[in-house]
Amino acid sequence: MQPSEAKHKPVVFSGIQPTGKMHIGNYIGALSVWAENQSKYDNIFCIVDLHALTIPEAIKPEYLRHKVVEFAALYIACGIDPEQSAIFIQSHVPAHAELTWLLNCVTPLGWLERMTQYKSKSAHQESVGTGLLAYPVLQAADILLYNTNLVPVGDDQRQHVELTRDIAQRFAFLYGETFVTPELLIRRSGARIMGLDDPTVKMSKSLGEQRPEHSIGLVDEPGVIRRTVARAVTDTARETRFEHASAGVLNLLTIYEALSGETRPAIEARFAGGGYGDLKRQLTELLVETLAPIRKRYQDLMTDPTELDIILRTGAAKVAPVAEATLTRVKRAMGCA
Ligand code: AMP
Ligand code: TRP
Repeated sequence: MQPSEAKHKPVVFSGIQPTGKMHIGNYIGALSVWAENQSKYDNIFCIVDLHALTIPEAIKPEYLRHKVVEFAALYIACGIDPEQSAIFIQSHVPAHAELTWLLNCVTPLGWLERMTQYKSKSAHQESVGTGLLAYPVLQAADILLYNTNLVPVGDDQRQHVELTRDIAQRFAFLYGETFVTPELLIRRSGARIMGLDDPTVKMSKSLGEQRPEHSIGLVDEPGVIRRTVARAVTDTARETRFEHASAGVLNLLTIYEALSGETRPAIEARFAGGGYGDLKRQLTELLVETLAPIRKRYQDLMTDPTELDIILRTGAAKVAPVAEATLTRVKRAMGCA
């Protein structure tokens, strides 16, 4: 990335929490979008380890240390090119934690209590930590530190990006214009892939870790993929049109659509009258074909953690000055420097 180039290209920022089993929903909703658009943008992709600490009971230090490396390898295996995109670990750039405090001070409690992710995550906890409530403020800090224009995420992150915009505007009201207001970048179809074992819930990294039949992991072996797709929930009809399909079948069609790039009419013609066996067979083939190079690249990267370490340190060194400059601007505006 040349400095002159960076000035002209819109800034893209996104991140994934390094916990659970990375799945095909993460690939379709987030990683594939990041990878596809790399040359158009100035890209920053973060592994948000500080977010993983918000449920400390579930996350052991050794687990987190391992997951961070695994996720870095998965980003690259999915096509994130370290030459075109900065890849780094959130905790390597201290400005994230510092800006979070400053933004906490301008964020009304009610805004955080309203977040649906907070409501669902806190419902399962015996005791709810302050970090879980402040989770979206840390996410806002991630985004706002880099003058981000676009945030490519899945549908479930819509509310958090909208909150980020609200925080930026409230800050401007209190202290004057300081941040760039980010926009969402969400794909039209495939932004919310559902669980294969239960199409009423979103496919999730934590459920995938608990139940093998819930998701297709990005490094699943072909035999595992075949078995998981074979067991995916459908129904007793033979309906393979998008508009009329039941939730489970629609989910399979949507995954097929996202990975093949084919149009809906072409897909409907392909599966017309074939029944669900045919759909599952062809979907399995497509998944195996898509994931084979990802699994191979991932395995190669994991054999040499020093290469990953260099990529992550280079990424942090590249982005830290931008984060520092924003932080200085914010502190000045608030009277801290
Ligand atoms: P998470 O798995 O919650 O850490 O999410 C990482 C990224 O993947 C975010 O951009 C999410 O919006 C996206 N994502 C997570 N689950 C899905 C899903 N089931 N379908 C589509 N995108 C998803
Ligand atoms: N909350 C996001 C998720 O669960 C992860 C995330 C943290 C993020 N910081 C971000 C996504 C900044 C986009 C931009 O998926």
